[in-house]
Amino acid sequence: MPNRDYLIAPSILSANFAKLGEEVANVVAAGADWIHFDVMDNHYVPNLTIGPLVCEAIRPCTAAPIDVHLMVKPVDRIIPDFAKAGANIITFHPEASEHVDRSLALIRDCGCQAGLVFNPATPLDAMDYVMDKLDVILLMSVNPGFGGQKFIAGALDKARQARAKLDAYEAKSGRRIRLEIDGGVNVGNIAEIARAGVDTFVAGSAVYGAGKDADPHRYDSIVAALRAELAKV
Ligand code: DX5
Ligand code: ZN
Repeated sequence: MPNRDYLIAPSILSANFAKLGEEVANVVAAGADWIHFDVMDNHYVPNLTIGPLVCEAIRPCTAAPIDVHLMVKPVDRIIPDFAKAGANIITFHPEASEHVDRSLALIRDCGCQAGLVFNPATPLDAMDYVMDKLDVILLMSVNPGFGGQKFIAGALDKARQARAKLDAYEAKSGRRIRLEIDGGVNVGNIAEIARAGVDTFVAGSAVYGAGKDADPHRYDSIVAALRAELAKV
């Protein structure tokens, strides 16, 4: 569908962690919409990254929404910490919560927007009974844990299925839920992904990798290139 308001959410997983504040500010100055913040616990996924302290540290560096993607298990203990640290959106994987409905409500109670994340092999069923508690659906187009992986083509069909569910819900409720995708998004495939119904695009290595040889790091041309592809949809 043309003319969606597309959002670009660079993942700071691929940023230079020694200069994180600058990296966040620069990517937003280049036109990025959200900051995607990947939280990994070496338990739910085989990697370890950043927590609420880092979220709090980057909060003053930008007014852009911070989109916290929890790849941790369990989720309820840590949700209020991220809300206090300035997160705007918090998403988690249904496999990582014993009580999905309760975890979604907790995120909203903390003042954040809430979302569910679906791994490549996880069916979309878990969203059906909690639509009223969702602000965003995040589809994984790689297996979570690492940046720089290849986009799994099956995610396109799943995006079309999710889009149909969200459109039906919007027609009934008047409420819009965003459809976000994460993993392997780049200039070469973003338009095709948008055509499958996605409106919010996480891109880690594609964005931060593009600026890494320049000093200071500049992201204007890569963000513009992604938007130019979206303009063709
Ligand atoms: C992977 C993370 C992603 C990652 C995406 O588990 O959830 O957000 O940073 O990186 P790219 O865009 O490089 O696939
Ligand atoms: Zn992510």
